[in-house]
Amino acid sequence: MSTSTGTSEGRPTPANADASPSPRGQAPLAVTLGGLTLQNPVLLAAGTAAYGDELDGVMQLDALGGLVTKAVSLDPRKGAAAPRVAEFPGGMINAIGLANPGVEEVRASHLPWLARSVKRARVLVNVVGYAVDDFARVIERLDDASGLDGYELNVSCPNVTAGGMEFGADPIALGEVMRRARAATTRPIFVKLSPTLTDIVGAARTALDHGATGLTLVNTMPGLVIDLERRRPALGFGTGGVSGPGLLPVGVLATWKVWKATGAPILGVGGITTAEDALQYLMAGAQAVAIGTAGLRDPRQPARVVDGLGAWCRQHGVRSLTEVTGCLEWPS
Ligand SMILES: Cc1cc2nc3c(=O)[nH]c(=O)nc-3n(C[C@H](O)[C@H](O)[C@H](O)COP(=O)(O)O)c2cc1C
Repeated sequence: MSTSTGTSEGRPTPANADASPSPRGQAPLAVTLGGLTLQNPVLLAAGTAAYGDELDGVMQLDALGGLVTKAVSLDPRKGAAAPRVAEFPGGMINAIGLANPGVEEVRASHLPWLARSVKRARVLVNVVGYAVDDFARVIERLDDASGLDGYELNVSCPNVTAGGMEFGADPIALGEVMRRARAATTRPIFVKLSPTLTDIVGAARTALDHGATGLTLVNTMPGLVIDLERRRPALGFGTGGVSGPGLLPVGVLATWKVWKATGAPILGVGGITTAEDALQYLMAGAQAVAIGTAGLRDPRQPARVVDGLGAWCRQHGVRSLTEVTGCLEWPS
């Protein structure tokens, strides 16, 4: 049952998404991320929540601020060879290969489920492409559907029509991807950047100059875990993306650099397990955060982070999380 109040974007506004303190003195967790009102700032990160439906009965999605779907590409992708994930003491490494059923199937079955079942949490669709035009084509196919509130562009993948350089590392390709994506929708678009970019602030500026609403910071970092007995990579693909606790300070620094330089809306991702980890991103300038690996390990963890943020606000006399965003003071 929806407890929503309705919005011009066609999806309900969470009824408790009110930035003023509640009458009972409970610290309000509502935030605004690039024009989207979230009932709290905790989302599930791309690729770790499928399209929401796989988590039905496992966690209460509507208790969260939102979720970012698994990647959606124009055509279905089988993905990488197994094993696709491996653990190491600092987190995990994955090479899923952006396996997904393709835009038609997402439109036909996953978005209708989200529209029916997710009323209070916001939904960002993670879009991936291998040529400049792919991103806009996926968006064009989805944009008149319900069940989504905006997009996240995964530009940390190779541009196969231009020598394989990652879109995010090529300012011309990145600007063009974003310009075409913006022409395809009026919904919010967040561009997700890799922490390995030599000039992450420059990439963020390029995305914003071409119409991005904000940034998602950060994607995984490349890594290699070796299976010592087999003397082979632990992952079927060989290399993979490192996620989990070791990524926390990397993502927090990227967030701080981009926030300081641009003041743009930021969804902070990487290494968040606790409310204190989430607060690091918020203080560095993020309006909201997404949790990946910690939610894969324990599906109750994202809800604990929401509760922990409420408790922290009460303990610290914080009446609205907006007081916290970007409050980091740099040593002079
Ligand atoms: C199994 C797995 C699948 C992922 N799939 C995607 C994806 O489809 N698109 C994307 O942009 N990021 C993807 N990511 C990256 C996460 O969204 C996130 O940026 C990263 O894991 C860091 O957050 P964490 O440390 O909380 O896991 C994936 C991560 C994992 C662990």
